[in-house]
Amino acid sequence: MANLFSNFTIKSYNIKNRVVLPPIVNFGWADKNGFVSEKHVKHYENIAKGGIGIIIVEVTCVLKNGRIFSYQPGIWNNEHIEGLKKITDACHRHGSIVLLQIHHAGLTTYKGVSDIVLGPSIDSENDHSSALTIEGIKVIEKAFIDAAIRALMAGFDGIELHGAHGYLLNQFANSAINKRTDEYGNSVSGRLKLATDIIKGIKQSCHANFIIGYRMGANSPTLLDGIEIGKQLEKTGIDILHVSHGGDKGIIPEIPANFPNNWIVYCGTELKKHVKIPIIVVNEISTPERASWLLENGMTDFVAIGRDLLTDNLWLQKAQTNKKINYCIHCQPLCKRFAKPESCPVTK
Ligand SMILES: Cc1cc2nc3c(=O)[nH]c(=O)nc-3n(C[C@H](O)[C@H](O)[C@H](O)COP(=O)(O)O)c2cc1C
Ligand code: SF4
Repeated sequence: MANLFSNFTIKSYNIKNRVVLPPIVNFGWADKNGFVSEKHVKHYENIAKGGIGIIIVEVTCVLKNGRIFSYQPGIWNNEHIEGLKKITDACHRHGSIVLLQIHHAGLTTYKGVSDIVLGPSIDSENDHSSALTIEGIKVIEKAFIDAAIRALMAGFDGIELHGAHGYLLNQFANSAINKRTDEYGNSVSGRLKLATDIIKGIKQSCHANFIIGYRMGANSPTLLDGIEIGKQLEKTGIDILHVSHGGDKGIIPEIPANFPNNWIVYCGTELKKHVKIPIIVVNEISTPERASWLLENGMTDFVAIGRDLLTDNLWLQKAQTNKKINYCIHCQPLCKRFAKPESCPVTK
């Protein structure tokens, strides 16, 4: 029976425990050209010092004109490698495995970085949207593969494709958004063709030990669709599946009344029943008790602890020694880190 402290092997990596830092972007820390800063290096080193098994570094854009905001970290050019390498060195010094989340916002691209937003189909609520041509899709496919190669050069142990939260890969996967009738639409495999081709390209370009993770939107648009998406992704040969939500267009599933976590975690545990690859579940798991329950009952392979690891980087050590954790207080209406990481009331 697994617990928080059980190790796990992915490819030749020995992951020292079952706790993952999910990607959490640090607003205002990168510059307008996508370069990360010393603040990033210190931040991720601090998390690694807490003994976390896998650190997934925040949403990093593969193309300058595909960003969600203008100060998003980038990996569209070789000059980004040097700064990112400082992050991987810092995480490796403390024995964490470190992945980079790579991303394109698609239809939700920030207006300030592109006049026209591109996605699988036009967005009827956005006059500035346009459906990608095959040529345009190929440009994005290559940008993701090149980003993975750069991530490898920067010392990452692997990448996580951002296929959740309503961004480009999730827009393709979701039949409520993707209305294409060509090879990139029509069926689950068509809607996943871009992701599948990216994964194939990464496998051909990076060494066999490079981890390929995928963060999926479980309700895209329904959980039943999500299960089909997860099964299809497993066939592409990804190494780990991180189950989050599908953004605004996703339909929230009903969950059993006695399930002790929220519907996003529930979706992850449902996905676990349908695939053999390791699963990460996430969202408001917060406490070692809830995390342990999920692991000890075989409902997941990994638990991602986001905001509570940011408010207490010693979360795991305190879980082991039964010390009091400084929990996230769930600021309303929104986490204050969206405005500025330094404004978190628990850590400032
Ligand atoms: C400030 C902030 C930034 C986030 N940035 C990202 C991101 O870069 N990529 C991503 O996939 N999810 C992002 N998320 C979602 C988190 O990865 C995670 O799913 C969410 O915080 C729920 O987990 P938690 O309740 O353990 O914090 C972000 C969440 C917050 C609060
Ligand atoms: S700002 Fe508020 S919601 Fe965000 S991590 Fe800090 S305490 Fe939690």
